[in-house]
Amino acid sequence: MNFDLNDEHRLLEQSVREWAGREVAPRIRELDRQHRFDPAIFPQMAALGLLGVSLPAEYGGSGTDYLSLGLASEELEYVDTSLRVILSVHVGLNSLTLLSWGTQEQKQRYLVPQAAGRKIATFGLTEPSAGSDARGIQSVAIKRGDRYYLTGEKMWISLADVADHFLVFAWSDLEKKKKRDPSGISAFVVERASAGFSSGTLKEKWGILAGNTGFFKMEEVEVPEENIVGRPGEGFKIAMFALDQGRFTVAAGATGLIRACRDASVKYARERTAFGVEIGQHQLVKEMIAQMESDYQAARLLWLRAGWLKNVGRRSTRETGLAKWFATVASERAASDAVQVHGANGYSDEYPVGRFYRNCKGAVIYEGTREIHKLMQADYLLGYRADRPTRCELPPYRAADLAGE
Ligand code: CAA
Repeated sequence: MNFDLNDEHRLLEQSVREWAGREVAPRIRELDRQHRFDPAIFPQMAALGLLGVSLPAEYGGSGTDYLSLGLASEELEYVDTSLRVILSVHVGLNSLTLLSWGTQEQKQRYLVPQAAGRKIATFGLTEPSAGSDARGIQSVAIKRGDRYYLTGEKMWISLADVADHFLVFAWSDLEKKKKRDPSGISAFVVERASAGFSSGTLKEKWGILAGNTGFFKMEEVEVPEENIVGRPGEGFKIAMFALDQGRFTVAAGATGLIRACRDASVKYARERTAFGVEIGQHQLVKEMIAQMESDYQAARLLWLRAGWLKNVGRRSTRETGLAKWFATVASERAASDAVQVHGANGYSDEYPVGRFYRNCKGAVIYEGTREIHKLMQADYLLGYRADRPTRCELPPYRAADLAGE
């Protein structure tokens, strides 16, 4: 078993760390305070190859493996969750799904510009009245001739107000909708420019304030038949498949957030004195810092295992879900303790830990709540759930690269 990262991984880690530390870290407090998403980040991420990370070179991607997506996610969320969210929706949920389920035409038309960062992509499953209950969506896609007409509203969509391409899920079989049979849901690529499409930004959220989160509405949006992803009726499976990659980025990102909490706490514990000594000398502070380290190391091993399974072409729904659940819950613990270590200063946004505390909570909710993941893990153990092979799988990473050649 080899736990070493290769040179390509280390280079990626270092370049993302340097870029985010130089270009975003000094401004993030102000962006967060102003609730401002900065779209100038996209071309910079594209120049680093991040918007095409883990996508094959033949589609204009970086040609790196799936661990690279995790490493980039970890480094981005070390600075701010809003950066990692871009990778989650653009690469994890959307582009890797097109890579695995899309036609050649769809790949050329959508994946290639997405990998280069010329077009930004996101994912539309959640609705105002359907989150965990993904079968509960109400959007419909009515077929007339060789076109579908999509009507519905999607909510809590990252990059809703800035993305160009949307991977949207809607019922294409209304009889199956009545019975909640998920084989009546289909997946579509929808372009922002389509008539009947509108979007907005959610103003009331209290975390990930430097990120764009919103909604979009579709009123009889005309989508050509060739924009259906997979076959009609495969949409639910495609949504679940997409979440396998999205949850991977969330797991790795939350791991970066734990590390950020740990590092900020260590720094502060060496600077601040109380009762005549650095607070790091107090055992109860040590206890919190030690917990952060154990959570960080365990979370990292879990997402690395999920990434390795993806590299070798093995299904990782179960392992990815475990990694996502563990890392996000641990990040909430780490952020809460980081604020505690900072005492009253942790309660002020003069220090970053208050932002970490606000940012961590979203990931305990989105892409499968803590409760959904607990149920899934229990169901695997109890034999109530098993991962069956799907028609399309994530392509394994090139064997030559796995061998380190
Ligand atoms: N890959 C491929 N196929 C899969 C799959 C996967 N990971 N998971 C399930 N499937 C298949 C199953 O095999 C099954 O097909 P068969 O019947 O042919 O075997 C079919 O899909 C139905 O699967 P389930 O029976 O598991 O479906 P379920 O209804 O029991 O799922 C659930 C329940 C696990 C709770 C699921 O609804 C779920 O994960 N909910 C959470 C949804 C979520 O995470 N939403 C966040 C979206 S994020 C967003 O939209 C906002 C944004 O900006 C990103």
